[in-house]
Amino acid sequence: AQQAERQRILDTLRLSREQLFEVKRRMTEEMARGLSKQTHDQTSVKMLPTYVRSTPDGTEQGDFLALDLGGSSFRVLLVRLRHEKKLKVNMHQKIYSIDQETMQGTGEELFNHIVYCIADFLDYMGMRGASLPLGFTFSFPCDQTKLDEGILLKWTKGFKASGCEGKDVVKLLKEAVQRKQKFDLNFVAVVNDTVGTMMTCAYEDPRCEVGLIVGTGTNACYMEEMQNIETVEGNEGRMCVNVEWGAFGENGELDDFCTEFDHAVDECSNYPGKQRYEKLISGMYLGEIVRNVLLDFTAKGLLFRGKMSERLKTRGIFETKFLSQIESDRLAMRQVRSILQHLGLTGSTCDDSVLVKEVCSVVARRAAQLCGAGLAALVDKIRQNRNQNQLSITVGVDGTLYKTHPHFSSIMQETLQDLAPQCEVTFLKSEDGSGKGAALITAVACRFKSEKL
Ligand code: BG6
Ligand code: GLC
Repeated sequence: AQQAERQRILDTLRLSREQLFEVKRRMTEEMARGLSKQTHDQTSVKMLPTYVRSTPDGTEQGDFLALDLGGSSFRVLLVRLRHEKKLKVNMHQKIYSIDQETMQGTGEELFNHIVYCIADFLDYMGMRGASLPLGFTFSFPCDQTKLDEGILLKWTKGFKASGCEGKDVVKLLKEAVQRKQKFDLNFVAVVNDTVGTMMTCAYEDPRCEVGLIVGTGTNACYMEEMQNIETVEGNEGRMCVNVEWGAFGENGELDDFCTEFDHAVDECSNYPGKQRYEKLISGMYLGEIVRNVLLDFTAKGLLFRGKMSERLKTRGIFETKFLSQIESDRLAMRQVRSILQHLGLTGSTCDDSVLVKEVCSVVARRAAQLCGAGLAALVDKIRQNRNQNQLSITVGVDGTLYKTHPHFSSIMQETLQDLAPQCEVTFLKSEDGSGKGAALITAVACRFKSEKL
């Protein structure tokens, strides 16, 4: 009877093929509404224009700084683009930490810290006082009317610095630079991490016209026909659109698929009611879903012999890396048990370990399937845009969950193939981060700017 009860609960986290088709259908609908001038304001999925009009063409040149803010690590980079027959990219980077207080303090403190890190990096590179153009990978939703301006619509993930929402992040950065007076910035391009990733990968494979992130958060971008982007003037060519699909579900589109565990995770998050799709998929939340299921099982006497521990009640103990480790095929149950012990969940039996592993697997499978359903909507849209019966395309991907989870990518791809059979999709993992792509974008923008002068 206990086993049946466990399965009944786990079944609420399992999605049928019909449900996944429905997710794809609703995502398709929201994407269309996001592009349309009339409905844009009401949609959950914002379809933000990025002012990036083409993937790299190999003529990019010069020295650029890049910042990469919003993923699991904050990086400052120097990217050198040179031509020796072929475009050569040379990169140096340093990782800096941003503590919780800085992420959630005042905007002024956050941007001061960023400027401090840039100054330190320039010192470290022996370039003190240099004035370089900057590609700013800023992995949050921004309204852009040009490349060198980005109005932060809202913070997502773990960030909550005050006084930034509704402001231009380029201006916030430049003000902080002026306060410190250690160096100058001559041009700043704001780039979402999906866009930077797409560009990094397009440098290797010109068929790469989609960027996907499955890390702390989740999101995607793709090359859309200008004539379909009603929020931007002009009908010629294409522009990259930042889908901001993490927010899908904010209008209730996912309500019939969410469980009590998802509601618990949402309610205890930084932004209740927001980023609902992201909360079912990305690394920042999967561990929390698992923890909530385990809490419920324990309270019902279905796990850990019904013995509740303080540790299990602690938010955030289940990091993505544990999820990936527990599901690793090479891991014996004994090792799952030692991970549980490491998490402070002592006294577990072998059956407990089997169950915990099953919970992890069900939660990760649902995430991968949902992500696949969103991607199916996206690639099918590109296929239809181009009036093709069969589309062949490459998706550039980054993010710790995607890269470290043993099954996420294969389940996602299986779902994608099932839901978008007319698309042949190749996945290219980004090895260089989004900073390289941000520098390529900045290079093109700087060239255009100097040509215009
Ligand atoms: C990095 C990119 O490699 O991946 C970042 O350079 C991106 O721009 C990040 O935000 C996403 O993954 P995670 O797991 O660090 O959130
Ligand atoms: C969040 C951000 C989005 C970003 C994604 C991945 O969803 O809102 O801009 O691309 O996380 O980092």
